[in-house]
Amino acid sequence: MSTPAIPKHLAVIMDGNGRWAQRRRRPRIIGHRAGARAVATCIDFCLERGIGALTLFAFSSENWGRPDDEVGGLMKLFVHVLDREIAELHRRGVRMRFIGDRERFSAAIRERMQSAEALTAGNARLALNIAASYGGRQDIAHAARALAEDVAAGRLAPADIDEAAVAARVALADLPPPDLLVRTGGDQRISNFLLWQLAYAELWFTDTLWPDLDAATLQRALDDFSGRERRFGLTGG
Ligand code: IPE
Ligand code: IPE
Ligand code: MG
Repeated sequence: MSTPAIPKHLAVIMDGNGRWAQRRRRPRIIGHRAGARAVATCIDFCLERGIGALTLFAFSSENWGRPDDEVGGLMKLFVHVLDREIAELHRRGVRMRFIGDRERFSAAIRERMQSAEALTAGNARLALNIAASYGGRQDIAHAARALAEDVAAGRLAPADIDEAAVAARVALADLPPPDLLVRTGGDQRISNFLLWQLAYAELWFTDTLWPDLDAATLQRALDDFSGRERRFGLTGG
């Protein structure tokens, strides 16, 4: 099975901000701020190349366990970047959505998420999904709970629980699953990102630290992707 040159849905684990700062003997939050610029680079790249969906792993359900000052700094940065960028993203036709456990965020952040989603809901050029307080296991557990609720309410028979029923209840159910996963920062693991959705994604890793991300690095990922044979469990050809 051939691979189209351009992925339909790019998923990115934006890793390496802390090490980028440490190498400069600066506090980790400086790396996160530099990382926000790389987010803009990545969004620009997707808009230019016609990639229709981009899902960015910004903050995992496990990242809450980091020191208070780092978590607090990230929350401030989150608010700052959203306030600064949302009008321009909207103007460029970006539809923003947040996936993850919103209840753990402050009311101020939840309100911003809600208003960014409402403002951009009619856009269709790029579906930009921010995974924040997101965990893949949590996502699947929520889907299991939703299925149980449907069964308990008599809307669904247990025998009708199949892959499609689960797929319809995990995050981003309305989008094609990511066909390319990029992880910066040199580690080659999933770190509890989109576990269900990544089942057949092509994986691409780079030692580049997230704040150093540029269009050339993303282009290398795309070039590599376009040369891969995706077999989906079938025989090659
Ligand atoms: C990724 O960078 C951003 C978040 C997880 C919020 P890290 O902060 O994990 O950077 P490293 O991996 O420690 O360098
Ligand atoms: C994954 O990076 C989460 C995000 C990029 C938001 P981590 O730095 O949290 O992952 P581990 O700890 O290296 O697995
Ligand atoms: Mg990390």
